Amino acid sequence: MNLAVLGAQWGDEGKGKIVDLLAPRFGVVARYQGGHNAGHTVYVSGQKFVLHLIPSGILHSGTTCIIGNGVVIDPNALMTEIEMLAALGIEVGQRLRISDKAHVIMPYHRDLELLAEARRGERKIGTTSRGIGPAYEDKIGRRGIRIGDLADCSLTGPLAGVVKENVAARNRLISGAEMDWQAVLGRLAASWDRLQPWVTDVSLALAEAREAGRAILFEGAQGALLDIDHGTFPYVTSSNATIGGVCTGLGVPPRAIDGVLGVVKAYTTRVGEGPLPTELTGEAGERLRESGQEYGASTGRPRRCGWFDAVAMRYAVRLNGLDALAISKLDVLDDLDEICVCTAYRREGKLLHDFPADSGVLASCEPVYETLPGWSSPTQGAQRETDLPSEARAYVARLEELAGAPAVILSTGSDRVDTILRDHAILEDWIGSSR
Ligand code: IMP
Repeated sequence: MNLAVLGAQWGDEGKGKIVDLLAPRFGVVARYQGGHNAGHTVYVSGQKFVLHLIPSGILHSGTTCIIGNGVVIDPNALMTEIEMLAALGIEVGQRLRISDKAHVIMPYHRDLELLAEARRGERKIGTTSRGIGPAYEDKIGRRGIRIGDLADCSLTGPLAGVVKENVAARNRLISGAEMDWQAVLGRLAASWDRLQPWVTDVSLALAEAREAGRAILFEGAQGALLDIDHGTFPYVTSSNATIGGVCTGLGVPPRAIDGVLGVVKAYTTRVGEGPLPTELTGEAGERLRESGQEYGASTGRPRRCGWFDAVAMRYAVRLNGLDALAISKLDVLDDLDEICVCTAYRREGKLLHDFPADSGVLASCEPVYETLPGWSSPTQGAQRETDLPSEARAYVARLEELAGAPAVILSTGSDRVDTILRDHAILEDWIGSSR
């Protein structure tokens, strides 16, 4: 079975931990979109790993990790990550494959992003300043540079022409320190020397893996509500974080996806600007942020926190055809007497049950809450469903009912072992025995 694991909220749902947990049951883990704006955190026996570009499967020695054409790659960020892993005793070796069609994040992309955000002023998006948006803009504008292009970094080759033009365009927009296109080209040549052994045709590698009967886990970054098409536009990232991104971002047919697992937090968070109907400001939000340690894994920014939003959840289920959910951070709610869940929105006196397309409309929606009893006892580290207090089980059951999808995995802490794999036929189908 090939399984897609993706975020069903605004990112940071805990995908890294879930992918790491499931990875030993899969021969291949493949990332299909985003870049080093993502920060997938995995704890193994107290040791913390934060992965930005390399799939979280890398922590398992038998797993091949693939970075697809839909990902945008900053070569320096990738090399830094490979070195960080090596320092922690994890050799990437022959286990990494990088698509020759993946686009490169160039040094001028970061400059252009800072400029665009400054120009937007109050309407800024609150991006991660990694050059993600401008790299995707150049891809769509057909002036982008692909990893495979780095094979010829000669001063007279076609790549040199594109770099020269793009750097000149950057220099026209940004006053002050001029960028030197030849220096940029020189750095690309150095990157190619290091990355070249891993560069390949990823679509072909995945087809061969499937023929050889190796199961593939497709790893998403960000989340459905940050999707460029279906998210809270314009407060979104620049790629398709929803299920369609798997096919376009890896060159695999839709029938290669046998199941879709959506990862959600037991509450909601968001980093950056844009509407968040269930946001808790003041002390309540601060409490969730502190107990959930809600600070960006990539940028360190404090995350905005709020109650679980079932309207948004149902939308993510519909968009992605989620077969099941993994609910993370259940333990963060341990201290609460009561927990609210948003079941609908109210706007101009009318009830809305469907997620609106327009961010302005969403921003003017008021959440309609249902209040559930909290459990006021620790679930931290629980590994069996029977270890959960009845109120926690009832909370999960209500989320399942509202989402219209079963929760097959519950996460009760940051470590790999702080997890409940529920006795469910879907999980059995996907990974064999859940024990
Ligand atoms: P960009 O992807 O850097 O262009 O940022 C666009 C929006 O997506 C901003 O609101 C970011 O905070 C958000 N974003 C990007 N990557 C992540 C992520 O991995 N987790 C959560 N939010 C993200």
